[in-house]
Amino acid sequence: MSSSGLITQNFKFMTNDNKQQKLSDSTEPAIAYSTCYAQPLFTRIWEMPNKNTFDINCIKKLIYKYYKDEYKSVDPFANKNRIAKITNDLDPEMGTDYCMDALDFLKQFDDNSMDFVLYDPPYSPRQVSECYKKMGRTVNMQTTQSSFWGNLKKEISRITKPDGIVISFGWNTNGIGKTKNFEILEILTVAHGGQHNDTLCTVERKARLLF
Ligand SMILES: C[S@@+](CC[C@H](N)C(=O)[O-])C[C@H]1O[C@@H](n2cnc3c(N)ncnc32)[C@H](O)[C@@H]1O
Repeated sequence: MSSSGLITQNFKFMTNDNKQQKLSDSTEPAIAYSTCYAQPLFTRIWEMPNKNTFDINCIKKLIYKYYKDEYKSVDPFANKNRIAKITNDLDPEMGTDYCMDALDFLKQFDDNSMDFVLYDPPYSPRQVSECYKKMGRTVNMQTTQSSFWGNLKKEISRITKPDGIVISFGWNTNGIGKTKNFEILEILTVAHGGQHNDTLCTVERKARLLF
C-alpha cells in the first residue's frame, strides 16, 4: 500500500502490460481500479464554439498544461495560432512560417525530432473539401478518404520523439493510436450546446521502445 492509501501492485500490473484483464482478475477494492494512473483522465467542459480551436479557453489551458517553451514543437494546421515554434497552413493568408500541404510539410522533419505536435486538421471530408475549394485545389477521392488523416498520423508518429506529446483535435478520440505506440494520457470533451458537435481533445505520449 502506498502512502496515499492506494494499492501500488495494481499500478504495476497496469503499466507493465496495460491489460485491464489483470485488474479485473484482482481481488483488490474497486477504488484502486478507478484511480489507476494508467487510465486516461477524462474531463467534460462546456464552452462557446470558436473556429480557432485554440482560442477556446479550456483547450488553450490543456495545451499549456503539456507544452514547454524549450520543446521543439510543430503545428501543421496552425491557422492564426502561434503556440508551436514551427507553424504551417495551406492558406497563405494565415502568415504561418510555412504555407504547404500539411503532409509535405511534415515530411521535411527528421525521425524522432519533435517534442510536441499539435494536430488540428479539418475534422471531416466535408471540411477538407471546403478548404481545398477555397484554395482553388482539386478535390478528389484521395483528398477526402480516410488515408488523408492516416498518412498525416504516420508522419506525426515518425517525427515525434519517444516521450514526446501529441495533442489531437476532432470529432473522435482515436489520436495517433496504440498501433503506433502512443498511449492516451488525457481526453477533454468540450461541449458547445445546441446542434454543435463536441470538440474532442486527445493528449498522447509516444512510448519509449524497451529494446
Ligand atoms: C481546424 S483549423 C485549425 C485551427 C487552429 N488550430 C486554431 O486554433 O486556430 C484547420 C486549418 O487547416 C488548414 N488546412 C486544411 N487543409 C490543409 C492541408 N492539407 N495542409 C495544411 N493546412 C491545411 C486550414 O486552412 C485551416 O486553417
